[in-house]
Amino acid sequence: MREKLVAGNWKMNGGLAENAQLLEAVIAGVAGLQGVQRAVCVPFPYLHQAQRSLQGTPVAWGAENVSQYEKGAYTGEVSAAMLLDFGCRYAIVGHSERRALFGEGDGAVADKFSAAQAAGLVPVLCVGETLEEREASVTEAVVSRQLDAVIARCGVESLAKAVVAYEPVWAIGTGKVPTLEDIAEVHDFMRAELAKSHPDTAEDMRLLYGGSVKPSNAAEIFAVSNVDGGLVGGASLKAADFGGIVKAASEG
Ligand code: PGA
Repeated sequence: MREKLVAGNWKMNGGLAENAQLLEAVIAGVAGLQGVQRAVCVPFPYLHQAQRSLQGTPVAWGAENVSQYEKGAYTGEVSAAMLLDFGCRYAIVGHSERRALFGEGDGAVADKFSAAQAAGLVPVLCVGETLEEREASVTEAVVSRQLDAVIARCGVESLAKAVVAYEPVWAIGTGKVPTLEDIAEVHDFMRAELAKSHPDTAEDMRLLYGGSVKPSNAAEIFAVSNVDGGLVGGASLKAADFGGIVKAASEG
């Protein structure tokens, strides 16, 4: 049985003072909720702060990116081992903003996935189509390509111990949400494709939905078949909203 997971993605937001308040409020806001795992992914400089605040609470923390390299002359990069030093459980890889704005291709994303998992982190692999791709009816081909790159690099079984987040690029930060049928279609497709050859892996793989999740739509999204929780951007910056979303997952 897959337990639901709600993970926040702060993106490039925050500051020491406001984070302190947000983290306190998040801890309080999700206290006592059963049957749902929760986490926040924060900018690198705030991992230590997250660790200090969240240690010993049911809220895990993680990074928004990780280097594909282990160590060495890679100026500006942060390795998976460094993230582990700060107690991270998760590392987001292949977020569409990294793919679109920082040139991360499927191969680099697969290498990041591999580096994260090899070090003992849980990679949160983001997949999803652009609006153009949706209009061209190639959504399934796009998510298959993105998943296949990881499968080719790390093996199918690697997905059993990972999290996959389906995030239609056009739904991120826009307030636009696919219909529940559209979400179900893509999530069902991803699990069913994998189940054809690897039913156990397909059963274990956690599939989150991401893109404009908020307290008012979370419950209906989390009730969709094969949705195991959410990856939450904007709403994770407000403790009350994040708490409402986690609550919706715990009740679902
Ligand atoms: P959003 O972002 O919730 O602000 O749409 C989701 C994400 O980018 O993971």
